[in-house]
Amino acid sequence: MIRVVLEDDFLPLERFRLARPPSKPENPGVLSHRGRRLAARVSATAAALALAGTAIVLNGQARTGAALEAAADSVARADSPTSGSITISNLSFTPNNLTIAKGGTLTVTNNSTFVHSITSDAIASDGKPLFDVLLPIGAQNVSVPISTLGGGTYTFHCKFHGQMTGTLIIDGPPDGSITTTPKFEQPLVQPPRLHGKNITIVMKKTKVRVLPHGPRTPMLTFGGTFPGPTIVRRTGQDTKVTFVNRLPRKDGAVTIHQHGGHQKSKFDGQPASHLIKHGKQMTYDFPLRDDGTPLPAALRFYHDHRMDRTARNNWYGLQGLFLTTDPNETRLDLPHGKYDIPLAITDRSFHKDNTLTNPFKKMAGMGGGPGMETVGQQVLVNGRYAPYTKVQPGRYRLQILNSSLFTSYDLALSNGMPLTQVGTGSGLLPHPVVRPDIVLGPAQRADVIVDFRGQAGSRVLLSTLTRTATDVTAKALMQFRVKGSPAPKARVPFNLARIEHYRVPKKVAMTWNFGLHDGTSEQYWTINGKRFNPQRVDHKIPLGKVERWKLVNTSPVTHFVHLHEELWRTLQRDGHKPPPWEQGYEDTWRLDPGESVVVAARFTDYTGKFMLHCHMLDHEDDGMMATFEVVKKR
Ligand code: C2O
Ligand code: CU
Repeated sequence: MIRVVLEDDFLPLERFRLARPPSKPENPGVLSHRGRRLAARVSATAAALALAGTAIVLNGQARTGAALEAAADSVARADSPTSGSITISNLSFTPNNLTIAKGGTLTVTNNSTFVHSITSDAIASDGKPLFDVLLPIGAQNVSVPISTLGGGTYTFHCKFHGQMTGTLIIDGPPDGSITTTPKFEQPLVQPPRLHGKNITIVMKKTKVRVLPHGPRTPMLTFGGTFPGPTIVRRTGQDTKVTFVNRLPRKDGAVTIHQHGGHQKSKFDGQPASHLIKHGKQMTYDFPLRDDGTPLPAALRFYHDHRMDRTARNNWYGLQGLFLTTDPNETRLDLPHGKYDIPLAITDRSFHKDNTLTNPFKKMAGMGGGPGMETVGQQVLVNGRYAPYTKVQPGRYRLQILNSSLFTSYDLALSNGMPLTQVGTGSGLLPHPVVRPDIVLGPAQRADVIVDFRGQAGSRVLLSTLTRTATDVTAKALMQFRVKGSPAPKARVPFNLARIEHYRVPKKVAMTWNFGLHDGTSEQYWTINGKRFNPQRVDHKIPLGKVERWKLVNTSPVTHFVHLHEELWRTLQRDGHKPPPWEQGYEDTWRLDPGESVVVAARFTDYTGKFMLHCHMLDHEDDGMMATFEVVKKR
C-alpha cells in the first residue's frame, strides 16, 4: 500500500529507502488475478512518481495540510445533505471534498478502468482504517460505512493509487460529544524547568493554585509546585537528581521512580527498599543511556512508588515530568520551542474549601481491595482545573501524559480535527499515525501534532469522549484560543525514528497473567495468581538476554500494564501485528479483559530487581505487582 502525496511537509525521496517496501493489498483474496497484477503495476507507478521528486507516504498515514485547512472552515456547516456520492473516473475522486450530515450515507461508483479503494487515512482503535472499501472496475453505488462516524474531518485515499485523495466532512457533534463544558478561567501553566546535570528537588507540603477561585490547595509537592518541576535533559547526558524528604513526618518514607527510564535497580524506585525517610535525602543517577546508546527522546515522568501508598502519594501531588530531547528528534524539525507543549492530565476531587478529599481514609493494609477506584471529579491539566492557552494558527506538538491514578481518557479535539501521533512515552514512532481520538490509560503518553492552521478566531477544546459505557463522562479538559499571526512552518516527516531490530527468541520465556483472586474470604488483584510480595522474585533473566514475554488479562476488567526498566517492543496484540501506534517503544499497554500482548526486550546494563504492575494505582497498591530480577550471566 503506497501512496504518493504532493505535500511539501514530508521528507524527500532519499529518506524513503528507510521505509518498508510496498506491501500487498490488504485482502489479496478479493482481487482477481488481473486486479492483483494491476495493483502491482500501480505500486510501480507510484514508485516512479516518487522518483520524479515527490514524497511518499505509506498506509495513508499522512494528511494533506491544504485539504484540512479547507475543511476546517466548513466544519459544523448547517443543513448538510444526508447522503453523498462520489464517482471515480481515471485517477480521481469527484468530488474530492464533500460534507455529509452525521448518520448519513455515502456511495461510490467506479467508472474507471482500474480497481480502486476508498480508504480513510485515520485508523480506528483496532488498527484498521475507519473505512476501507474495495471498488472493482464498474462497481456502481457501493456504500461506504460512514453512518457511525462522529462529526469531524476524515481524509481518505485510494490504497492502489496514492495520488487519489479526498476529504469527507461529517457535519455534527463528535462521537460521545461533550456534556460538560467548564468555563476556562485560568491560563495553562508549565511547571518550572530544571536543565542541570545535578538537580536537587526538595519535597514539601505546600499550598498550590489548582482551582480558579478560593484558597490554594495544600499538596505534597516536588519543589513546591504541582506537578513538580519538569526535568529537561538531552538523552545520553548523565543526570543526578537529589530528592530531599521534607514532607510531614506522618507521610513517612517515599521512593521515586523515573517512569520509562533505564537505571540501576536501587535508583528505580524500589517500593520497599532504598526508601527516602523523613528528613533524609537520596541522589538518583539517571544515565539516560541504554547499552551505551542514548535513550530515545520522550516524555517520561517521575513519581512516588511506595508500596501500598503509591496511589495516596500521587493523589497528594508527588508527580513531575521528565522530558528528554535528542539530536535525531531535533533534526526532524517537529514543532518546537513554544510550539511544543507538554500536558499532564490528572483528576482530583476537592472539598468546598479547595482541600483535596481523602479517598484513602478507610483503607486498611494493602490497597483498598479490588473495588477501590480513585477517580477525581475535576480534571486538571498541568495542575490547573480547565485551563486555556493561546495558540497561533499553525502546527503544535502536544506531549500528553495521563498522570491520573485510575482514570482513562479518550482524547479528541472538539473541531473534529484528527491527532497525528508521532510518538509514545518511550520514543518516536517509526511513522506518524493519524487518529481521530487517542485512548490514554494511567501512565500512558502520546506525542501528537495538532493543526490549528486556518483556524484563527476559533476556540478548540481538548476533550475526553465517551466511546463505551465504562468510559468517563465526556468532558472538555482545556481550551485553545487560536489567534495572531501564523505559526512558523513545521514538518511532520514520514520517517521519524528507527526501532532497533534484533533477533527475538520464538519461545515465550514468561507469561504474566493479570487476574483477580476471588476467594470466599478475600478478594484481591493478582499477577500469576499471587499478590505482590517484595521478598519474592517471580522471574529471573540473565543479563544481556533478549526475552519474549506474554501479558494476558485473565480478569473481568481492563488493566494498564507497565513494565519497568527496558526499551520494550510490542510484537503482537491478540495474536496479530500491533496497531501502528504500538510499533515504537512502549512501556504501558492497555489490556482489555481476555486480551494479550506479546512484548520483547533486551536486558542490558543492570542486574537487580525491577517491577511490573498495573498502573491503575489502586490495583498496584492492592498487590497487582510482581518482581523480575536480572542476574549475572553464568
Ligand atoms: Cu509509573 Cu512502576 O511506575
Ligand atoms: Cu489494573
